[in-house]
Order: sequence, then C-alpha cells, then structure tokens
Amino acid sequence: MSELIHIENVSKIFNKKDWRGRKLKVSAVSDITLTINKGETFGLVGESGSGKTTLGRMILDLETPSSGQILYGNQEISKLKLADRKKIKQNMQIIFQDPYAALNPRMTALELVMEPLLSVSKELAKQKAIDTLATVGISGDAVHKFPRSFSGGQRQRIGIARAIVNDPEFILCDEPTSALDVSIQSQIIALLKQLQKRSGLTYLFISHDLSVIQHVSDRIAVMYKGELVELASVACLFKHPQHPYTKKLLAAALVADPKLARLQLNEEKIDEVIHLSDSFEWVEVDDNHFVRRDK
Ligand SMILES: Nc1ncnc2c1ncn2[C@@H]1O[C@H](COP(=O)(O)OP(=O)(O)OP(=O)(O)O)[C@@H](O)[C@H]1O
Ligand SMILES: [Mg+2]
Repeated sequence: MSELIHIENVSKIFNKKDWRGRKLKVSAVSDITLTINKGETFGLVGESGSGKTTLGRMILDLETPSSGQILYGNQEISKLKLADRKKIKQNMQIIFQDPYAALNPRMTALELVMEPLLSVSKELAKQKAIDTLATVGISGDAVHKFPRSFSGGQRQRIGIARAIVNDPEFILCDEPTSALDVSIQSQIIALLKQLQKRSGLTYLFISHDLSVIQHVSDRIAVMYKGELVELASVACLFKHPQHPYTKKLLAAALVADPKLARLQLNEEKIDEVIHLSDSFEWVEVDDNHFVRRDK
C-alpha cells in the first residue's frame, strides 16, 4: 500500500487568552508522527479537546503546524508555490459534522455543489454538479431546493457532493454522522463506503463514536490530550487494546456490558492512572500495532 500523507513530529500550540485577558498557550497537538495510506479509512478517536480536528485541519493546510512536517505524496505542502499548493488543496476536502451550518442557506443544492467548480465553464459545472448530486441520491426538482427544505441526512448528502465534486483523493470526515439519527448515520456511512470503492478515496475519519469508527476504519489512531497513544488495525485495537486510555475508551463505550461497566469506574479515577510523561517510547506489540509506553 502506498503512502498518501505523512505527518512527522507535528505539533500545534494555540495562543489564547483566559477570562482575565492573560496570555495562555494551549498545546492542542503534540509531536505526532503517522502515515495515512492511499485508499484506506484512517480512524481517529479521542475525547473532546484531544486535538483531532486540529490535526485534520493541519493536514488540509487550514492550520499551520507550530512545528513538524506534513507531506502529501512526497511534497511538503507548506513549502510549495501558491499555485501548486492550491492544486493539492483541491485534492483534499472536508465533510463537516453539522451539515446545516456548513451550507449557505441562500444557495440551492445545485448552486452549492457548483460552487467549488471554479475552473470549468458554467455549463460544465452545472452538469457535473447534477451528476454528483445524483450520485449521492439527490435528483430531479430537489436540486433547486434550499438547504432548509432538506432533512439532516439529505443536507449531509449535499455536503458530501460538494466534497467530491472536484474528484479529490483525500477527504477529512470530521464527525460526519454525529448530528444525524442512527438510521440515517448508517445510510451516510454506506454512501461514503460506496464512493470510496468507486473512486479509491482515502478518508481520515474522526469520531467520538466507537461503533462508527469500528465499522468504517481500516486502522485507528487513538489521541489523548493532544498526543498519540495507540495505533493499530481495527481488529487488533478492539481485540487487544493496550494503552490505558484506549482500554478506558473501549470500556466506556460498552457500558451495557456489565463486566466492562465495572471496569469503567468513574472517569476521574481512570484519568489518575493515565500518565503521559515527557519520556516515553513506542513499542510494536504486534504486527503494525504500536503503543506509547511512558517511562
Ligand atoms: N483556533 C483555536 N484557538 C485556540 N485554541 C484552539 C483552537 N482550536 C482548537 N483549540 C484548542 O485546542 C484543543 C484541541 O481542540 P480540537 O478542536 O482539535 O479537539 P477535538 O479532539 O477535535 O475535540 P472535539 O471532539 O470536541 O471536536 C482544545 O483545547 C481547543 O480548545
Ligand atoms: Mg473536533
């Protein structure tokens, strides 16, 4: 399998102000190295604030790393000339969590999907947009409707159409189903899988929801407080979780199972045992199953 994106020692520190106006530094992502392969779905899990979106936004060149390198193909995006950078950015798209907020309410579905098609004639853009909308299941008069006339699931289909209309190689799916009902979630996931099969798309799929992540991912990275703590194939991670935080995450998601519920304890107690120190090593516990071991 060939590499599409390689992230090397990437960190992001945000400068913030607290309520008194004092300057604060927030370490959102800390020294992450990983590779995303062509055609795979790379799952990214971790609790709220663990840096998932920040990492995704850096990959898309929407946020600049404080340190480290991001390679797309073999090219370092930040070092490219503006025109080449634009070209690469067209290859990378995003699907957002909240389809309603992501769509301009004054544009029709057709206009919304035509909008990213900048370099072709209007006529061609229209045809491409109609075809793409049909691919995601929106056709006929519906293409002339405004976002408010669509259900949440249909709006997400429009969001997906916008993302795929320029035939990208890579899509960041940032909690794309979290705002949807469970039955609609599975339809959207089925659509994403179908599109991947058809065009060999690569996904970075961010979610809190472990059952969704388990269902869609080939490999999974677990983030905790801005750091990567475990990386494994989906089967390995769910069968043999190694890092205390991964174990906590899996246990928390399976509270219905009484044995695991007991393990769950209360969150602060588990937090106490999860210690991330400056001194650690990566251990390959199994084939391509990596765990951070703090010293
Ligand atoms: N633009 C920003 N300015 C300042 N701080 C930020 C900014 N974006 C993110 N942060 C901070 O960086 C940390 C990581 O945030 P991020 O949104 O990447 O987490 P996340 O894992 O995506 O969380 P969630 O699951 O809630 O979406 C948080 O502490 C957040 O407050
Ligand atoms: Mg996020």
